[in-house]
Amino acid sequence: MCGIIGYVGDKNSVPFLIEGLKRLEYRGYDSAGIAVAENGHIHRVRAVGKVAELEKASLLENPRGCCGIGHTRWATHGKPSQENSHPHTDCSGDIVVVHNGIIENYLSLKEKLQALGHKFQSETDTEVIAHLIEENLKHVHAETDEQRFFRAVMKTSDELQGAFAYGVLWAKTPNQIIGVKNQSPLVVGLGEGENFLASDVPAFLKYTNKVLFLEDGQTVVLRPEKTVVYGMDGKETKVKPTKVAWDQKTAEKSGFKHFMLKEIYDQPQALEDTLRTAQADFMRILGLKTEDLRRIKNIYLVACGTAYHAALIGKYYLENFAGVTASVDLASEFKYRTIPPAKDTLCIAVSQSGETADTLGAVKKAKELGFKRLAICNVLGSGLTRACGSVFYTHCGPEISVASTKAFTSQIISLYALSIFLGHASGNISRGQFDKLYKEMMALPKAVAETLKIEYDVRHLTKKVYKANRFIFLGRNVDYPIALEGALKLKEISYTSAEGFAAGEIKHGPISVIDKGTPVIILMPKDHLFDKMLSAAQECRARGAFVIAVTTPDGSEEAAAVTDKRILVPKTGEYLQPVLNVIALQFFAYWVAKRLGRDIDQPRNLAKSVTVE
Ligand code: M6R
Repeated sequence: MCGIIGYVGDKNSVPFLIEGLKRLEYRGYDSAGIAVAENGHIHRVRAVGKVAELEKASLLENPRGCCGIGHTRWATHGKPSQENSHPHTDCSGDIVVVHNGIIENYLSLKEKLQALGHKFQSETDTEVIAHLIEENLKHVHAETDEQRFFRAVMKTSDELQGAFAYGVLWAKTPNQIIGVKNQSPLVVGLGEGENFLASDVPAFLKYTNKVLFLEDGQTVVLRPEKTVVYGMDGKETKVKPTKVAWDQKTAEKSGFKHFMLKEIYDQPQALEDTLRTAQADFMRILGLKTEDLRRIKNIYLVACGTAYHAALIGKYYLENFAGVTASVDLASEFKYRTIPPAKDTLCIAVSQSGETADTLGAVKKAKELGFKRLAICNVLGSGLTRACGSVFYTHCGPEISVASTKAFTSQIISLYALSIFLGHASGNISRGQFDKLYKEMMALPKAVAETLKIEYDVRHLTKKVYKANRFIFLGRNVDYPIALEGALKLKEISYTSAEGFAAGEIKHGPISVIDKGTPVIILMPKDHLFDKMLSAAQECRARGAFVIAVTTPDGSEEAAAVTDKRILVPKTGEYLQPVLNVIALQFFAYWVAKRLGRDIDQPRNLAKSVTVE
């Protein structure tokens, strides 16, 4: 939520800032702004709406300067408007700040600053940072303006409460940007004679893959030739640069109309890359040796949104293969409900971004309860990976579209791998069973590639139903979470009402919403529950529903007798089938939204990473 970018080097910063903001736009797109140090003063340009609006405005105003900061906003405090857009300034207009997160004590700070004569221009919490730095500058002393500014920023950070990251620039020190990280993401890109500050790596990946992942409480000073990181005590601290394996191509649309579609097509590769390291990683995971694994009695899975749906499937895997009792909580609920303390308990947090505030909160609670913690996460160095004792990385590359696709299937396969390795280590499954499951798992990327061929059929089918004002998705067993995910995906990008249900539940209430023509999408691969799904299809059809089956070729004929349309996906192992089935629903959501003319990659009101509660 909200994207920060900063550039300091020997070139005009503006194109870098605009380009960086475009790559961070998935984090928020209510308004955007930049500020550059230009001939001893600050030139600021802001615009409501997407970065394209800002780009137009800056072409007209033509700001130029080798040091600048920028921001794309997802509104928390104050409506999306020009006044509330970042960067925000102090009274003089010489100090500019971009910020991500929430300053919890901003009201009391604002009152204090107003009493001292500071004039505020926005409703945001961010603006207090600029005024507080201005105020603190009056009280700190140092030989150079650079040192004085650094001390004023350090003092300011001490007075702020909340989870935040910010970048700040002062007209009097036009060759440096200062960045501060406290529980919100902030990374540094190290270039040749130029350096970058950003909320996320794709913002500067085109120019460098040498990254400093900052720790909470660290402050960084960026100059063209040098970047120095300081700890909370103000002392210089060494941070080792990491070479990020992602390349720029993975963060581009590569000829696809939308990131979402490209990311659906990325799935075979994402799964292959994730599986490549799975065995070695899970063997060393948690620092757990086989004896520790055997001791785990209880598992809590915590996550939000799509990641929560992956966690729901994980429960089936863990209980079936590993033989361990697992429960799944929405992270936002886990944080606030009573969880009995228990020994030998593991909390698995699933998250693409590793930044989701609710998931981070749940993990904090798990730590307080003394649980071991494992993150399944896609983003290197993210908050979640630091908060958990162990991490398994999904290797999807950057997921840019707000609607999660490849991260979801990679999370599922990670949980599957963990469960079969755990089951094998603990003796819950035999060597023979393990070998069969492992073989199926390793063959999955190929099956996914095969499944992608259904796009044309799904696209064609959506022509008939895209105008419906309500959609129902039904699944059972491991396909129940897929029904929930199908509904979430469709709602998110088409803005149409959609609900997912366990197929056995419809007769307990939901069937009453079915009307003539209501599209009902039923997940019914030919497995041991196939007959039950045939009945569910008949019950819906009898009430006038337009029933679409997602089934496997061996179920096609029987499904044809009770449904209106079929989407045929290849067949794989029963517990891996959801990965193929969900691809049908990803295409379905995409094509409904496309036909409705929605903003697929940046649907209204949403942001990719929800870094506030
Ligand atoms: O980054 P995370 O996986 O923690 O994000 C969790 C949810 O916010 C996320 O999955 C959200 O539901 C997606 N936009 C769904 O497509």
